[in-house]
Amino acid sequence: MGTKIGIGLLGLGTVGEGVAEILQNPQGRHPLVSDLELIRIAVRNPKRVRSIKVDESILTTDPQLVVDDPSVDLVVEVIGGIEPARSLILRAIKAGKSVVTANKAVIARHGVEIAKAAAAEGVYVLIEAAVGGGIPIIEPLKQSLGGNRIQRITGIINGTTNYILSRISDEGIPYGLVLKEAQELGYAEANPEADVEGFDAADKIAILSGLAFGGQVDRSSIPTKGISTLQNRDIDYAKKLGYWIKLLAIAEQKDLGELEDGSFPLAVRVQPMLLPFDHPLAGVNGVNNAILIEGDPVGKVMFYGPGAGSGPTASAVVADILNIAGVRKLGSATSGLDPLLAAGPWRPCHLVDSNSITQKNYVRLLTKDTPGVIGCVGSCFGKYGVSIQSIVQFESSELGAEIVVITHEVTQGQMKNSLQEIKSLQEVVEVVEHLGCL
Ligand code: HSE
Repeated sequence: MGTKIGIGLLGLGTVGEGVAEILQNPQGRHPLVSDLELIRIAVRNPKRVRSIKVDESILTTDPQLVVDDPSVDLVVEVIGGIEPARSLILRAIKAGKSVVTANKAVIARHGVEIAKAAAAEGVYVLIEAAVGGGIPIIEPLKQSLGGNRIQRITGIINGTTNYILSRISDEGIPYGLVLKEAQELGYAEANPEADVEGFDAADKIAILSGLAFGGQVDRSSIPTKGISTLQNRDIDYAKKLGYWIKLLAIAEQKDLGELEDGSFPLAVRVQPMLLPFDHPLAGVNGVNNAILIEGDPVGKVMFYGPGAGSGPTASAVVADILNIAGVRKLGSATSGLDPLLAAGPWRPCHLVDSNSITQKNYVRLLTKDTPGVIGCVGSCFGKYGVSIQSIVQFESSELGAEIVVITHEVTQGQMKNSLQEIKSLQEVVEVVEHLGCL
């Protein structure tokens, strides 16, 4: 169609193969795809058996050769992890090359450094594939929803954990077995701890928060709890009470006022939460992700689709490549960067103390099976202003009685204090689980 745009690919794993597959088969896609030429690919092992055919002469084990190649106009980073990914991205920017990356870990931690470097060099760094796999969510937040004041983001943004929780809920399959399946399907991170401990979701909500609320979020301060210690009985009890358990990432503006220092407060967290069966996110199962955005004046908008895997993630990567290719086509007709495509933070924000986050809660207690236990637990919650929505005794055995409490909305500080005291009650053997609830 026109002048070729040279693509340098860093990584030929699950996502890299998906990208190469699209670039090598442009028929039936947007005509700009035909203008993209795969120049070089950095791989760890050139001899590895791959699911697609690639020209071996363009493979190299040195990623710097890819970045430095003068025929490479645009660098696509899909190796993941912090280093050498961060250095390679910065090197590409320094060489005046735009970058497309699927790397949420690097963007959540070094996004500001990278964005500043890109702005200084007048190049783009696009990250559609970093959150939500194949779901378009980054560009909609930067552009389509730009006229809104965003109030809340509630997301299922880790495919691996959603796949695991769905399979356990539906079929009762053991955790270890389903995790192995998720790895085989190419959903999990190289180190699946990032998925199951909630770190991957925390990276992604940090990125979404930055875009939606315009403030830079301190990734290391996000309270994060994963699913590795979740027990099947909590999933069963939640189901009996009319809820699914999902790993949710939530970011909400506490109120619309700014503080004296000019920053605004943002409550962000990642945790397994109970979702009522009729919640819009309740039907999001398997590897699918969904992000519910609440904004003024738009109301509620939900984005849904496959959140991980080769094809969906490659779809998002190629969308970014096309955006940059499109801008390049305009060439000297415009000067500077498109401010919507190159969006960055525009105001200071701070994360609120986790104790002041308010939500409903699910608590499972193991207690002695004696008269008056429910009364004692209820009074103790009451003492700290924790109002109870429901309290149910599920099972009693020689071990004791299992009591499940769902609270109304209270602060996490109130929950911590009341649970501390409940733990010390003579009638209570153990506070076994404490989860959030919508
Ligand atoms: N490991 C990630 C997930 C891949 O399961 O969602 C997509 O970012």
